[in-house]
Amino acid sequence: MNDKNTKNEKMEAIVSLAKRRGFIYQGSDIYGGLSGTWDFGPLGVALKRNIMNLWWKMFVSDREDMLGVDAAILMNQKVWKASGHVDTFSDPLVECSNCKARFRADHVENNTCPNCGKIGTMGEARQFNMMFQTHVGPVDDEASVSYLRPETAQGIFTNYKNILDSYYPDLPFGLAQQGKAFRNEISPRDFIFRSREFEQMEIEYFVDPAKWEESFEMWRKLVWDWCAAIGLPVESIHELEVPEDKRAHYSKRTIDFEFDFPIGKEELLGLAYRTDFDLMNIQNNSGKSMDYNIKGTNTKFVPHVIEPSFGVERTIMAVLSTAYTEDEINGEKRVFLKFPEHLAPIKYAVSPLLKNKPELVAKAREVYNILKKKHGAVMWDDNGNIGKRYRRQDEIGTPYCVVIDFDTLENGTITIRERDTTEQKRVAISEL
Ligand code: GAP
Repeated sequence: MNDKNTKNEKMEAIVSLAKRRGFIYQGSDIYGGLSGTWDFGPLGVALKRNIMNLWWKMFVSDREDMLGVDAAILMNQKVWKASGHVDTFSDPLVECSNCKARFRADHVENNTCPNCGKIGTMGEARQFNMMFQTHVGPVDDEASVSYLRPETAQGIFTNYKNILDSYYPDLPFGLAQQGKAFRNEISPRDFIFRSREFEQMEIEYFVDPAKWEESFEMWRKLVWDWCAAIGLPVESIHELEVPEDKRAHYSKRTIDFEFDFPIGKEELLGLAYRTDFDLMNIQNNSGKSMDYNIKGTNTKFVPHVIEPSFGVERTIMAVLSTAYTEDEINGEKRVFLKFPEHLAPIKYAVSPLLKNKPELVAKAREVYNILKKKHGAVMWDDNGNIGKRYRRQDEIGTPYCVVIDFDTLENGTITIRERDTTEQKRVAISEL
């Protein structure tokens, strides 16, 4: 079997596990789905929150130079005109003259329609704007046009002036935002990798134009720290210096951080030098000064911006594919998710050895309550035999299974079984 097939098998195994165990479902599944949308189930939402909370802690709460914002998704249409998105946020689209299917031009190989397989039927490429348009209010006219934001960044830039007025932080400083972004992708694909609705975690870091390189290097290093914090192997991450003709319209320098996903090496996140592109556009279109006045001096300038931009779904996909592991125990195949403990949706599963022994169940409930109070993410699991419970917990990446048996009643010790090694130890309840 070639490498590509093995990789696709891994992707299929992850997609299937994600659905079966309640991590991620196709959006609107019950009605046949809606392409490019995904719903997070109980374990998926826990994993997502663990990732997003860690990001917020690392890049906002733990730092002195960062502040958070949470802007409205719907914004005045002027935002998207000024930012260049109305004119340039588009992908080249081609249509097959035979089956009428439409594709992103760079997703078509050898002039062959990916849908009907005909050769030479793909028409000329035209630009397709990826913003979802809507109308705000009851009148559908030009003035009421708005868009679902295609990036969270603009909600930060439009609040830069508010933040200066309320806080006047020293330069350099950054504003961070997490939230939904929407892109009408021509061909959403590869599970959650390319979605039409997804979540971003973005930072706009405002700097003295003369010192942009310093901050760019600082964020480059912090991106590596982040990848380590979520347990991604260093050897699976690759920096790609994006050439000028491939960079977004606002960027003077971009490094894409690519990751070896099961679908191949693809962009995980980006680090861009957006110059003063956005603030100058806002200044010119709003008529309001975006100048930053260095305190105690007459020095004024419009700051430049370094933007580390993280996609939540791609992060989840990288974490899931890193965690997905198969091994063999006593001649039987085992699938487990080797999540770093701090990202695991469930930290402990608690079971009574036998569920028809009230004294074991009562003691197990006691232990469950202690752990639940301490860790929150604790699951009660008394279905099937112990072996089956272990397999089930392995599959959702629970680092520890705690079993209460008759010895527990006698001496207050429990069995704790570790996910990765499958080793079991007896420890006192008080040591948990
Ligand atoms: N504000 C800059 C910006 O939005 P981008 O490279 O277009 O830059 C940043 O997007 C990140 O958002 C990407 O690196 C990726 O992680 C995520 N992303 C972009 N489009 C996506 C999509 N269709 N589905 C899932 N994630 C996406």
